[in-house]
Amino acid sequence: MINILSTKQFNKDDIESILSRASIMEKDLKEGTVKKLLSDKVIACVFFEPSTRTRLSFETAAIRLGANVISVENAEVSSSAFKGESIEDTTRMLSCYADAIVMRHHKALAAEVAASVSTKPILNAGDGANQHPSQALLDVYTIKKEHGRLDNLSIAFVGDLKNSRPLHSLMPIFMFYPNNTFYFISPKELVISEELRGELKDKNIKFVESQNLEETLPKVDVLYMTRVQKERFTNIEDYEKVKDSFLLKKEHLELMKKESIILHPLPRVNEIDKEIDNDHRACYFREAQNGLYVRMALYLYVFGL
Ligand code: NCD
Repeated sequence: MINILSTKQFNKDDIESILSRASIMEKDLKEGTVKKLLSDKVIACVFFEPSTRTRLSFETAAIRLGANVISVENAEVSSSAFKGESIEDTTRMLSCYADAIVMRHHKALAAEVAASVSTKPILNAGDGANQHPSQALLDVYTIKKEHGRLDNLSIAFVGDLKNSRPLHSLMPIFMFYPNNTFYFISPKELVISEELRGELKDKNIKFVESQNLEETLPKVDVLYMTRVQKERFTNIEDYEKVKDSFLLKKEHLELMKKESIILHPLPRVNEIDKEIDNDHRACYFREAQNGLYVRMALYLYVFGL
């Protein structure tokens, strides 16, 4: 049985085949030729944390492929989790009803816990600050579509690099692609983990850590903005101190390469001024749309279709 728990589970061939399948899904959707390959399937989407894009695009992806969807939003209050049911027991029940389970949870490793008892594939839609594999795959799909490659790029990640699960899922994918340079721009409270720093050093991957956005902007091909993850802070004052650390404004665009792209997993709070939205480099809504094609490809991957 194939689960999607973490991008660390993939080799380069897996990634390439998911991306090329996603591109076929994009083409089929545009041409109206999508085959209803999941017409005998029921997909459960169970979200213990808020979501707009991830849940609705996973649901749309399933429906486009002919599946039926059962869905629980606000699962922390609207499922039996509210009465104290464990992740294991909830998952056992879901796997009696559905053929695959898409789950988002505030606890890191919740997807692993679910997979340990599930008889049906688990697709991790975000587990705490740990992993968000489908987001990372749609991000690299977008970068490849916009730039034509995943190597020889300068990529800056900006914001909450401590708690960003998209970043934690993106870096294992980038490890397969040579000659990239990474810039990690964050307040000092929200720097990358010691583990990631060590891995980059061990693999001789070029990276720079800094707090200076302006200085970095002229160098990058990909600017990946992130939201400061308020829900991961235990102390609201700590959040208030860093929440508005980096705001990308219209005047910043002049510092950036004409062919660079700006990504953000969304939702944005105060990281990207809306004045930028009409610039050709503002890619975040296209990025979110790509999520649909990638999530269609992920269902086909777990079902071996
Ligand atoms: C991200 C997440 O949930 O980790 N959002 C998303 O899935 N598009 C990023 C975020 O919430 O900041």
